[in-house]
Amino acid sequence: MPKQTFKLNGKMVTVDVSSDVRLLWVLRDLLGVNGPKYGCGINVCKACTSHYNGKAFNPCSVRVGDITADDEITTIEGLPDTVGRELHPMQEAWLERDVVQCGYCQPGQIMAAVATVNQTRREGREVTDADLDAIRNICRCGTYNRIREAIVGGARQM
Ligand code: FES
Ligand code: FES
Repeated sequence: MPKQTFKLNGKMVTVDVSSDVRLLWVLRDLLGVNGPKYGCGINVCKACTSHYNGKAFNPCSVRVGDITADDEITTIEGLPDTVGRELHPMQEAWLERDVVQCGYCQPGQIMAAVATVNQTRREGREVTDADLDAIRNICRCGTYNRIREAIVGGARQM
C-alpha cells in the first residue's frame, strides 16, 4: 500500500492507504479525526468542510493521493491552534449565540465561516450579505439565521 504524507492540524501524518481513497475516510476512519462529518460524500452538503492550505474545501471529494507533503489540512479540531487559543473566536461567537441544534452540520459551518472571513480580510474588506449567501453548507435543523449572526459577530473578534 502506498504511503500518503501531509500536514494535519500542525503535525505531519503518514498513512498506508491507496491513493484513490477520499481524504474524508482517511481522516475519520484511519486517523480518528471525526470533526469533519459525512453527509453526502459528493461535495453537496458541505458537512465535511475543512481547510486546505487555509481555504475551505470538502475532503469527501478529494483523493488522498492528490494531497502532497507540502499541503496543510486543518479540521475543526485544529482550528483553535491556528490562533493560539483554547477556542477560535468564531467558535466563541457560536457559543454566545447558542447556534447549534442537533450539531451535525456545525463543524463544517464554522470552518466555512472562518474561511470566508479570512478570504474577505485578504481582499481588505468586511463580510457582506453576499458572502454569507455564498456559504452553501446545509443545515437540516434550519439554524441559518443564528449562523449568519454568529459569523458577523465572530468576524468582529477575528
Ligand atoms: S460529506 Fe462532504 S460535501 Fe457532503
Ligand atoms: S444543527 Fe442540525 S443539521 Fe445543522
